[in-house]
Amino acid sequence: GKRGKAGMNHPLKRPGKLRLGVNIDHVATVRNARGSAWPDPLRAALLAETAGADGITAHLREDRRHIRDADIEALMAALTVPLYFEGAATTEMQAIVLRHRPHAVCLVPEKREERTTEGGLDVSGDQARLTDYIAPLREAGCRVSMFISHDPRQIEASARIGAAVVELHTGLYSELLADGHAALAERELAALQAGAELAASLELEVHAGHGLTYDNVEPIAAIPELAELNIGHFLIGEAIFRGLEPAIEEMRRRMDLARDR
Ligand code: PXP
Repeated sequence: GKRGKAGMNHPLKRPGKLRLGVNIDHVATVRNARGSAWPDPLRAALLAETAGADGITAHLREDRRHIRDADIEALMAALTVPLYFEGAATTEMQAIVLRHRPHAVCLVPEKREERTTEGGLDVSGDQARLTDYIAPLREAGCRVSMFISHDPRQIEASARIGAAVVELHTGLYSELLADGHAALAERELAALQAGAELAASLELEVHAGHGLTYDNVEPIAAIPELAELNIGHFLIGEAIFRGLEPAIEEMRRRMDLARDR
């Protein structure tokens, strides 16, 4: 059929190994800056697969500022690795997910005016609605992930509502390191480690992402409970200098190094 493998239930490409999901949103950002057809996010996704990405992540924002509906369609048709669809918990996104049935859906908070996803989802404060919201997604066979902070209340609430996965927000950790606050970054890293441990003990699959770079990825990759990292903005930027495949290969190398130590 027309459909690729982006929605199928995949045997893990690297069992036991830390998976890398490459987020291609910002290829679309560059494309949309000129209203042309290039650079094409699908071409980037296919190159990322070649470079060893275990999944492709795309965030369909309510305002469509980067990824558009047609991109999701193209990715679903052509990918041979799973598509991790990110979106806000709105009825519009639910309908889109049910139409495409991607491998996984990561629910993220979304504010129109933000530059990027600023905080985690408040699962604990929205449990009843989110339980109902994810029910049809689960029935459709999508792995449902919650993008949350390491707050134990959010992790426990995610387990309670029936999510399969939590993605821990590494944005604050990344920012603290970038701003030279090493001691605070250490504390944040410890909280992420504790969060990963708690989530795994509740039988959640644990992912992490946001703001990860060559310089800050290794301590995160070394957290043994993590199954997957999702990395976008830095890799797309680095691709300007090295090309996309070498940029991804270098991230993969650093992730593996952290795991082998
Ligand atoms: N994970 C989630 C849930 C995200 O929303 C994003 C950004 O879209 C990322 C990971 C990737 O973050 P970055 O682009 O900073 O690598």
